[in-house]
Amino acid sequence: MHSHQKSKSYILVLQTTFAVLVAAALCIPVDAFHRGGVGECEGCHTIHNSVEGQPDSPAGISGNYLLKGSDPSSVCLNCHQVSGDTGPTGYHISTAPVDMPAGSPPRQMTPGGDFGWLKKSYTWFSSLGSTTIQRSPANSHGHNIVALDYGYDMDFDKPKAPGGDYPSAALSCTSCHDPHGKYRRFSDGSISTAAAPIKGSGSLVRSAEPDPQNAVGVYRLLGGVGYYQKSQGQSNVFSNNPPAAVAPDVYNRSESVSQTRVAYGAGMSDWCRNCHSGIHTDAAPASLKHPSGGLGAGLGAGIAGWYDQYIKDGDLSGVESNAYLSLVPFEIGSTDYSMVLKPIAGTTPTRGPSLTDGTPQVMCLSCHRAHASGWDGSMRWNNRSPYIVYAGKYSQTGDIQPYGQGRNELEAQAAYYNIPASAFGYNQYQFCYKCHQSGTK
Ligand code: HEC
Ligand code: HEC
Ligand code: HEC
Ligand code: HEC
Ligand code: HEC
Ligand code: HEC
Repeated sequence: MHSHQKSKSYILVLQTTFAVLVAAALCIPVDAFHRGGVGECEGCHTIHNSVEGQPDSPAGISGNYLLKGSDPSSVCLNCHQVSGDTGPTGYHISTAPVDMPAGSPPRQMTPGGDFGWLKKSYTWFSSLGSTTIQRSPANSHGHNIVALDYGYDMDFDKPKAPGGDYPSAALSCTSCHDPHGKYRRFSDGSISTAAAPIKGSGSLVRSAEPDPQNAVGVYRLLGGVGYYQKSQGQSNVFSNNPPAAVAPDVYNRSESVSQTRVAYGAGMSDWCRNCHSGIHTDAAPASLKHPSGGLGAGLGAGIAGWYDQYIKDGDLSGVESNAYLSLVPFEIGSTDYSMVLKPIAGTTPTRGPSLTDGTPQVMCLSCHRAHASGWDGSMRWNNRSPYIVYAGKYSQTGDIQPYGQGRNELEAQAAYYNIPASAFGYNQYQFCYKCHQSGTK
């Protein structure tokens, strides 16, 4: 623990010095580290396993690639989790336990979601007089990355990726993200690791587009065809490239006033199937057969039209220009970054599905968050309750909480990225109804 503290403070010094140098030299925002490709080696590796003359243990253990942490995910969290955050902060994707005591929700609100939910368990009773304790265990809230320095461990209830073989014991940030950012997007739209300089991130609205000489990083440094986590050896090699998508420049924010919209373009479902090949496909059990990406997943004019109309239970006054709900995103069905995706991504655009933008589809992230969420199954909304809002509130006071399910109002609201309960029906059903008219009340 002691040496870990030391390596943390070292990282901070390094980060600050590095950021100041870079900012001074290039006049770019101080938060740039990966810049769409590989960052400064020393941000993640310790070359001599030595800090101020002392071994920088646990980093540098043999076979550990001289990493500044016990495992790859801990290295990432050295920068991506910072104690003392008072609200959503930049590129932070995990809240330190001191900043989310019992009764307080995790603080980050990125599109992927705060891993801190994987440390929050909830219990409740579903009715008066019931003696059965209902549970929503911490590990059911998303992808349990192994980051031992930060108190995250594998999901012992799910030893493998459901619908695939990926071992949960090896699940880390670098299972999904390439730490060296080798995958790049070229000006013809193709993605590979072929040599060509990466001029910056390709994830944001402000990111430059590739030109014939320079590529940009793929969406969120995700692994592409042929990718595998080095520590695991060549098993579970990816067969699908990262999706086409664009996030707004400011993507970690409360949605109490306006929504954060990622323009998901195409290919997310195939990318998730790198590890979940058998889920939500025809081979999957009937209960998990919902179409997602590809054949049969198109919204078509019927579902697109309904999505546009449906604002909330009891309000069908929506039109295409104001229909978007970040709790039920869809894939636009386009890979055109400059004309379609970038103009749609942002913190105010609210356009619903449109057949002129592309062929809109339901995809994995229509229902799930990529990292973690406040609900079971990493769902964007509570799928285990008939009502999302009941009598105007997300939660109920006391222990009898059939709808809030152990989360207090503050926690449930944070799980909905601070969108107020008043934005929805007084009694609001599942968001499946944002796309499905049948069964709507
Ligand atoms: C963002 C963090 C990060 C940065 C920056 C980074 N690395 Fe790594 N590196 C890792 C992680 C994590 C692993 C372990 C990978 C795994 O388990 O798949 C690793 C593994 C390696 C390995 C052994 C596995 C392999 O891929 O061959 C080498 C060599 C390496 N890094 C070199 C470098 C060099 C050189 C730089 C600077 C140009 C660099 N790294 C920058 C995180 C980083
Ligand atoms: C030395 C600090 C540092 C470390 C260590 C670090 N990051 Fe980052 N990361 C940042 C900063 C700063 C940003 C925002 C600016 C940028 O993208 O360079 C960022 C952004 C990102 C993004 C968004 C990039 C984009 O282009 O959209 C991803 C994904 C990411 N980091 C993943 C990782 C993973 C995975 C690791 C561990 C292998 C890691 N980071 C380790 C500092 C760090
Ligand atoms: C199961 C795969 C997976 C794992 C594991 C994973 N990520 Fe991500 N990450 C994604 C995807 C997919 C996105 C894009 C989410 C979106 O736009 O909706 C993303 C987005 C991000 C972003 C951009 C902000 C956001 O949340 O949208 C950062 C930074 C990041 N990841 C860092 C990390 C770090 C650090 C870890 C480990 C602690 C990690 N990721 C583990 C798949 C993963
Ligand atoms: C690198 C492999 C990998 C990729 C890529 C991946 N997953 Fe997973 N996923 C796993 C593993 C392993 C588990 C089981 C461990 C766990 O639940 O923490 C899992 C579990 C899940 C769960 C169950 C979570 C729970 O707590 O009940 C959901 C939902 C899920 N993944 C959705 C996705 C989605 C959506 C994507 C694409 C954005 C994706 N996965 C991409 C490996 C992966
Ligand atoms: C229409 C909504 C929807 C879509 C689209 C969707 N899922 Fe799910 N998924 C669910 C629900 C609901 C559950 C059950 C969640 C719970 O309550 O635990 C679930 C469960 C899962 C689980 C956990 C299964 C288990 O055995 O515990 C995984 C893994 C998963 N989904 C992955 C994916 C992937 C990968 C995609 C895209 C190919 C996807 N989902 C698309 C709604 C959806
Ligand atoms: C983003 C839009 C979207 C959301 C959200 C959504 N669906 Fe669907 N759903 C579709 C599309 C598209 C289809 C396939 C086309 C069709 O059946 O009209 C479909 C098909 C179905 C089917 C028929 C499946 C089959 O194999 O015939 C069922 C049942 C269903 N959805 C249930 C649900 C449930 C339950 C939820 C909430 C957990 C949900 N859907 C959320 C878009 C969505």
